[in-house]
Amino acid sequence: MPDPSFAQRVIAWQRSYGRHDLPWQGTRDPYAIWVSEIMLQQTQVTTVIPYYQRFMARFPDIVSLAGAQEDAVLALWSGLGYYARARNLHAAAQAVVATHGGRFPQTFDAILALPGIGRSTAAAIAVFAFGQRRAILDGNVKRILARCFGVSGWPGLPAVEKQLWSLAESLLPDSGIEAYTQGLMDLGATICTRNRPACEACPLQPICHADRHRLTISLPTPRPDKTLPQKHTMLLLLWHGSEILLEKRPVHGIWGGLWSLPEAERGVDARQFVRRRFGLETELLPALPRFSHTFTHFRLHILPQPLRVSAKATLPPGCGALWLERAEALGAALPAPVRKLLATHDEGVSRSQTPALPGSRT
Ligand code: ADE
Repeated sequence: MPDPSFAQRVIAWQRSYGRHDLPWQGTRDPYAIWVSEIMLQQTQVTTVIPYYQRFMARFPDIVSLAGAQEDAVLALWSGLGYYARARNLHAAAQAVVATHGGRFPQTFDAILALPGIGRSTAAAIAVFAFGQRRAILDGNVKRILARCFGVSGWPGLPAVEKQLWSLAESLLPDSGIEAYTQGLMDLGATICTRNRPACEACPLQPICHADRHRLTISLPTPRPDKTLPQKHTMLLLLWHGSEILLEKRPVHGIWGGLWSLPEAERGVDARQFVRRRFGLETELLPALPRFSHTFTHFRLHILPQPLRVSAKATLPPGCGALWLERAEALGAALPAPVRKLLATHDEGVSRSQTPALPGSRT
């Protein structure tokens, strides 16, 4: 039986200690709220803020976003990761213009039907834009509920997730839904964190099952096997003077639709690969330090291989590649690890002794 004081504790805490000045607060504009909620999926507030501000300055309303080139949208997303979010946002803006006359839909089901909007995100938009009484359940909220109510089992299991949704629905307050929802997000981000929760500062401590039973660190139950599959690849830095060859990635798969470096299987003859693929003669330069990047479903070990192009032949038509000056390439829609690579390397020369390329998540 959920404690009836749960919501009141969250609301009172939010009003005194929660966040009130985030750039997407203080508006009821569903477009502004939607963009923020999509950016905030799997991404921290401090990372999102500058991206959000640039995005809203460039695309202040849904019609401007719908009319944009996908590349322009991806360029503003470059570095945030999870690029399917940007493509879905763009597609959803076009759907809203086509089917709702450019007016953001107001019913929960119509919001949920848009590309890239799941149940929790639809609820957050319905709450913040329209004051509707809906339950959110993102990773942070799952952690709060699992701890406070002692729900064990990995939340990725459908049965556990179902139990958490029922709980989330049963806890909704009759009034103050905005402060309640924001309060859950704020508690999850600042107090009830995964590794070092600040339980003494938590308004839920007096009613928290995990706190009472010393289970805070073991809840929520971790994913049964966290070892990710390992993959290997080689990224080719083809330099012609200060120009670099970039290639558009296929829409599906990692870094879908972004500009990236040509990719070859680890172990192939890079010069031969480039000759066959682009008809270019090259000189092999010393390989750069390898680095790894963790995606949701696998870990990618990358060997960056620079090559100097001796003569810039015409590229085969339709090969999806182009030459860009390095500075220009850095302004394109690049995946974060590729951007870091280009920022620390030019024309075969490493800019720093140890180009530390942290394995961030995409
Ligand atoms: N995370 C997801 N949505 C959020 C919001 N509206 N404010 C702060 N953090 C969030």
